[in-house]
Amino acid sequence: MSRSGRDLGKRVRTGKGRTASQVRWLERQLNDPYVKRAKADGYRSRAAYKLIELDEKFNLLKGSKRVVDLGIAPGGWSQVVRKIAPKAAIVGIDLLETDPIEGVTILQMDFMDDKAPAALEAALDGPPDLVLSDMAANTVGHKQTDHLRTMGLVEAGAWFAAETLEKGGTYVAKVLAGGTDTELLTLLKKHFKTVKHAKPPASRKGSSEWYVIAQGFKGRD
Ligand SMILES: C[S@@+](CC[C@H](N)C(=O)[O-])C[C@H]1O[C@@H](n2cnc3c(N)ncnc32)[C@H](O)[C@@H]1O
Repeated sequence: MSRSGRDLGKRVRTGKGRTASQVRWLERQLNDPYVKRAKADGYRSRAAYKLIELDEKFNLLKGSKRVVDLGIAPGGWSQVVRKIAPKAAIVGIDLLETDPIEGVTILQMDFMDDKAPAALEAALDGPPDLVLSDMAANTVGHKQTDHLRTMGLVEAGAWFAAETLEKGGTYVAKVLAGGTDTELLTLLKKHFKTVKHAKPPASRKGSSEWYVIAQGFKGRD
């Protein structure tokens, strides 16, 4: 930090048709230690460290056999799963194209499509024991709309988890500040032994994202 208190990291010039917010984003990327680490460690996203940190706290990955990665692109979380649970079968889904990852089945489709749950299940040779969701809806800048859209994805992920998970399984999802709404929390508490919220250090302090970690799926009657 300089005496004026300004961070003396890399600065990005405006121009080149960049908007002020694009410049801020680029500066943040260039000066972000997690971005540098991701490059050095060969992870496709800085988001990889969020899963690593959640795993350190909640012991999610080791020994996993079948994993679903909702919102897989560009693939950082699945890379982490591959590293910590190399024998796990993994299937991921995203609206965007994801470069192939060895040992991972990738579906390019909308998770909200009626056919998505069956397509995900068909890619595994049994019920998942871990459902991960880092999905985030494209923001439109209207706080309530953005919140509702993202929470809609979390809720759809929770239903998918409740309908497919093996007994004892885990559901992890990105949620927005304010946490999970009452209805979703009730659903999760009904189906899982423990439901916790966490904000891993790799999650930017200014961002409203948190994660909900639901462990010990009670099974279907
Ligand atoms: C923050 S990124 C995921 C990053 C990923 N965990 C990683 O480490 O590389 C969120 C992803 O969710 C995807 N997404 C959002 N809505 C979706 C939907 N309805 N179906 C499938 N993917 C969706 C976006 O396309 C985006 O790639």
